[in-house]
Amino acid sequence: MKYDTRYPSVADLKLRARKRIPNFAYDYVDGAIDEEIGKKRNRDAFHEIVMTPRYLIDVTSVSTESELFGRKYSLPIGVPPIGLGNMMWPGAEMALATAAQKSNIPYILSTFSTTLLEEIADTAKDVCWFQLYVPKKQSVMKEIIDRAKKSGFNALVVTLDIPVGAKRNRELKNGLKLPFSFTPNIIWQSMIHPRWAMGTLMHGAPDFVNVLPYKEGPNQGLAEFISDFAMAGVTLERLKEIRKLWDGPLILKGTQYEKNALDAINLGVDGFIVSNHGGRQLDAAPSSVQTLREMSEQVRKTATIMLDSGIRTGMDVVRAKALGADFSFSGRSFYYGMGAMGKEGANQVIEIFRDEITRTLQQVGCHAFEQMDSSWLS
Ligand SMILES: Cc1cc2nc3c(=O)[nH]c(=O)nc-3n(C[C@H](O)[C@H](O)[C@H](O)COP(=O)(O)O)c2cc1C
Repeated sequence: MKYDTRYPSVADLKLRARKRIPNFAYDYVDGAIDEEIGKKRNRDAFHEIVMTPRYLIDVTSVSTESELFGRKYSLPIGVPPIGLGNMMWPGAEMALATAAQKSNIPYILSTFSTTLLEEIADTAKDVCWFQLYVPKKQSVMKEIIDRAKKSGFNALVVTLDIPVGAKRNRELKNGLKLPFSFTPNIIWQSMIHPRWAMGTLMHGAPDFVNVLPYKEGPNQGLAEFISDFAMAGVTLERLKEIRKLWDGPLILKGTQYEKNALDAINLGVDGFIVSNHGGRQLDAAPSSVQTLREMSEQVRKTATIMLDSGIRTGMDVVRAKALGADFSFSGRSFYYGMGAMGKEGANQVIEIFRDEITRTLQQVGCHAFEQMDSSWLS
């Protein structure tokens, strides 16, 4: 096996991450909104997807490749955008981008990442996509899209599902706020996790490097700037402008309402990542699996459908494909891997997914991921 068998699953990496990094960093990634029911609903929905295996077939070799927007990726799983990624492990974003390029899977960089977008594009030039939180100021929006275009990002992902900042109770209780300040809990947690603390010291405290140039001088506080940066609800007019500015694949992330998807298709959007932001925004939101199940033929036929929120195993990726998602992303899985193993965690998670996707295809009797469809559902 091409991974460390002491941690053979994402669930094992999660357990190790919890011990290995400070609680405020772990809770930032693991936590969700309100009672965290939506996050649980995402997982439960995967457990309900049952498939009938087919035997009397030679499955010595199966293909895990998947094509998206004219490029073949080696696996149908990618890294979605995670803001403040380097807080989970120093250098996490660059480590994941490097591993994604090497393994030929997509890596989506967040607007609120802690590594410069130009550096990520250099490292992951064939597989990097850029995620946009649509800035209130049109001039800033144009400049960021222009930077993404000039640096060579292959697709633009516009996130819809954060019209307003979330109240996440774990973050509040841990005293996690902007600018990063050294409360007694944060100092204590850093002291008892010296490898994380040393790494962060050497790497520098995580900062919103891509958007800081747009802060209005020293008088504007960081918290105020970040919470006021993006539009309170992306409008169709803005989406129209973005379509004009970006001539590559344009993807909407977080669409759960059929009419939103149809309106976006009319504006020329190429694909959707069906998502509820991993249960981090609206505890009552349907699971991404439920949204996918209910998606109309019209949307499925005209756009590329991808999914995230709750994916934790290779089998989930195959289950999602049986329901109609051509590709999946898993946010927390990759970051549990970083917390558990540092930079080696990137490859560990990719190889766990590769192994589990391959075995699931063999087990159900399907020669290629791209052939998986609803006829396997029980
Ligand atoms: C800690 C954290 C930060 C996130 N930051 C962003 C972000 O900056 N932009 C974005 O579009 N989505 C963000 N997301 C949502 C992820 O891209 C993705 O939709 C979510 O993690 C999927 O759920 P999963 O973690 O259950 O796989 C974030 C998620 C987490 C857990």
